[in-house]
Amino acid sequence: MKPKIFVKAAMSLDGKIATKTGDSQWISNEASRAYVHGLRAAYAAICVGVETVIQDDPRLTIRMNGQEDCHIRMILDSKGRIPLTSTVLNDDFRSKTIVFTTRHMPQTVETQILERGAKVVRLKDLGGRVDLKDWVDACEALDIPSIYIEGGGEIIAASLLAGIVDVFAVAIAPMIIGGQDAKGIVGGPGIEHLRDAVRLKHPKIQWFDEDLILEYQVVKENRQ
Ligand SMILES: NC(=O)c1ccc[n+]([C@@H]2O[C@H](COP(=O)([O-])OP(=O)(O)OC[C@H]3O[C@@H](n4cnc5c(N)ncnc54)[C@H](OP(=O)(O)O)[C@@H]3O)[C@@H](O)[C@H]2O)c1
Repeated sequence: MKPKIFVKAAMSLDGKIATKTGDSQWISNEASRAYVHGLRAAYAAICVGVETVIQDDPRLTIRMNGQEDCHIRMILDSKGRIPLTSTVLNDDFRSKTIVFTTRHMPQTVETQILERGAKVVRLKDLGGRVDLKDWVDACEALDIPSIYIEGGGEIIAASLLAGIVDVFAVAIAPMIIGGQDAKGIVGGPGIEHLRDAVRLKHPKIQWFDEDLILEYQVVKENRQ
């Protein structure tokens, strides 16, 4: 069965997921960050784009009740740009990290990732990047039932446009970041016509103190 895919990121009220310098810690408040750790615990795998690893060096672990645990951690990295010093490649949970890449990753980078104890899966490339439909098929073959995509904006855009997302959620923090160079929650090239917009249905609304979390099912009809 294809994995269920849940996408969520935290944004300011004006739709930014980081400042223009890439600072994103923390947009959401403590209560909604606790909800994030609950999501990480509920999904079999967590996935981010390589740019998030480069910018934030996240742990992507589940930290609850003073304990740290880890499900499968996935990095989408078409060309092997992941820093070899990244926490996900070097911490105690490194064997749970899978770097999904393409033929564009140099063999030397793959070797160094494998030497650290993490895994590399080469997939088809689509326009020079990991083909997300091939990624979903690979996850299905690995028996991964559910994946939580935590960002950033490029991966969120690409996954929505690929029609692979089941649930889209956003935490809205009561702050304004502003700036045309500050990244929005959905990046990518964008669409030209509203008829091509990704449509959402069945809203679920939750408050975490002053943060608002909106969760929608993604309408999959009409997608590629
Ligand atoms: N507020 C939040 O909740 C939150 C969450 C996460 C991240 N962030 C912030 O978001 C920023 C990073 O976001 P971002 O949008 O720049 O990058 P991103 O989505 O984290 O990563 C994008 C990169 O993923 C790689 N990639 C692999 N396959 C891809 C595909 N099929 N389609 C698109 N990209 C693919 C591409 O690099 P290659 O072409 O080299 O593969 C691309 O540049 C950071 O500042 C981080 O702090 C915020």
